[in-house]
Amino acid sequence: MKDYWYKDAVFYELYIRGFQDSNGDGKGDIPGLTSRLGYLRELGVDCIWLLPMYPSPGHDDGYDIQDYKGINPEYGTLEDFKFFLDEAHMRGIRVIADLVLNHTSDRHPWFIDARKGPSSPYHDYYVWSDDPGKYSGASIIFINHETSNWAWCPDCGSYYWHRFFSHQPDLNYRNPKVQEEMIDVIRFWLDMGLDGFRMDAVPYLFEREGTNCEGLPETHAYLKRIRAMLDEKYPDAVMIAEANQWPEDLRQYFGDGDEMHMAFNFPLMPRLFMAVKQEHHGPIVDIVKRTPVLPENCQWATFLRNHDELTLAMCTDEERDYMYNEYAKDPQMKLYSGIRRRLVPLLEKNYRKVELLNVLLFPLPGSPVIYYGDEIGMGDNIFLGDRNGVRTPMHWNDNRNAGFSACNPSRLYAPVITDADYSYTSVNVQVEEMIPNSLLNWMKKMIRVRRKYKSFSRGALRFIYPENKKVLVYALEYDGEQMLCVFNLASSSQPVQIGLREFNGCGLTEVIGDTEFPQIGDSDYQVTLGPYGYYLLEIKH
Ligand code: NOJ
Ligand code: CA
Repeated sequence: MKDYWYKDAVFYELYIRGFQDSNGDGKGDIPGLTSRLGYLRELGVDCIWLLPMYPSPGHDDGYDIQDYKGINPEYGTLEDFKFFLDEAHMRGIRVIADLVLNHTSDRHPWFIDARKGPSSPYHDYYVWSDDPGKYSGASIIFINHETSNWAWCPDCGSYYWHRFFSHQPDLNYRNPKVQEEMIDVIRFWLDMGLDGFRMDAVPYLFEREGTNCEGLPETHAYLKRIRAMLDEKYPDAVMIAEANQWPEDLRQYFGDGDEMHMAFNFPLMPRLFMAVKQEHHGPIVDIVKRTPVLPENCQWATFLRNHDELTLAMCTDEERDYMYNEYAKDPQMKLYSGIRRRLVPLLEKNYRKVELLNVLLFPLPGSPVIYYGDEIGMGDNIFLGDRNGVRTPMHWNDNRNAGFSACNPSRLYAPVITDADYSYTSVNVQVEEMIPNSLLNWMKKMIRVRRKYKSFSRGALRFIYPENKKVLVYALEYDGEQMLCVFNLASSSQPVQIGLREFNGCGLTEVIGDTEFPQIGDSDYQVTLGPYGYYLLEIKH
């Protein structure tokens, strides 16, 4: 029987440049990261997801790849990377990395050659047209930067297609050579010992006139081809799709369990934030009910924040306005169709709310992804350009540069956070390790609780509808294990009566504090919850 490790895993998304500098050049690197593996093991994460570590001119933080089989020299060498993989594996931690299939950097040797025109063997690696009106059904993603998905190439007198920045020309997947090249890249890393990929921007691989050029059948067919190769040669490897799409469309990336193993649950994320603002369980109930059940070997990747803006692409216009009004009061906080803030500042440093949002995520169907720094409640810097404000150096201690680098502070790739509220002098790993009730220690505890009960990751979810709509209640069941999850989405204390008659006579244990609750009787079960309070209860027969 296969165990599908990723179905119970806790993922940790990490930015090498921002994690730990080992050589004093002001930028995090692979040896630095390796030296911090003990911390990640202690935190309890199962799998690290690395932002792109490939050589890149760095115009989109490595999502503009120049060489798919190398390591960015600022981060170290291939040897450093192999050593890091071994060290992570020795500690029982798996590692996946971003893979950008859709586009390369315009500094990639393929594109430099392709610009020469049709005589170049690489010209057809990219998507060209004489008519910039082609594929007009496709949206523009980086709306603040780009006005068209076509850019002019004066060298060959033709336009090339780019779904993201114009320095990121899309690869042409209609060319079988491109398909082969990328499969070869995948083999290269898996052979080295990498455990899988976060598949960047997968909806956009193929284009076709008259469509929105997203998730075309051709794209799914190619992804299935990659999966077949994995199943045959690397059966333990995992692929997580980054497809910012509605639940019904997302479902297609799983195929019949023969495409992506996982996909980020983009529609769920903003609704968690909406529910706590509206103090109403509606947004969560509605989206979970709309979320299709997945094939047995598949899993959602759930998250609150990541390295990008908090995307509101999966919101209606009304919902988006609501989110901007409530969470981006300063226009400087808005970016593209989202909000460039970290978790704790979004929640106005209300740690009860921070705990609630995390605890909402942990037992919802899926494997949670923690964004580096959010486990200690790091702040952001909305005055750094683009999405850089949520990619600042990790705070390790209150030494110079937050223990991130020994360099002269002006050499840091980005300043550490010094705003009074979030200063590295108090918001850092060392301080939080010492405080028993810190966010960091709470996160460690939650990760361990989650690991103990498989129904949190794999359980079938059934909502129970209390009259008090400020409270969210659901039951989970997996392999004979039954849990009851109760969350107060409001800033005030709330009583709630829960219809649990079917469990008449059963006991209840609150599993975070291991506390016995009163037995369930033949009338509604009554509990009260403090502001943003929650109970994770095991039902015992
Ligand atoms: C999605 C990534 O998350 C984002 O950071 C990047 O800019 C685009 N894909 C383009 O690769
Ligand atoms: Ca360095």
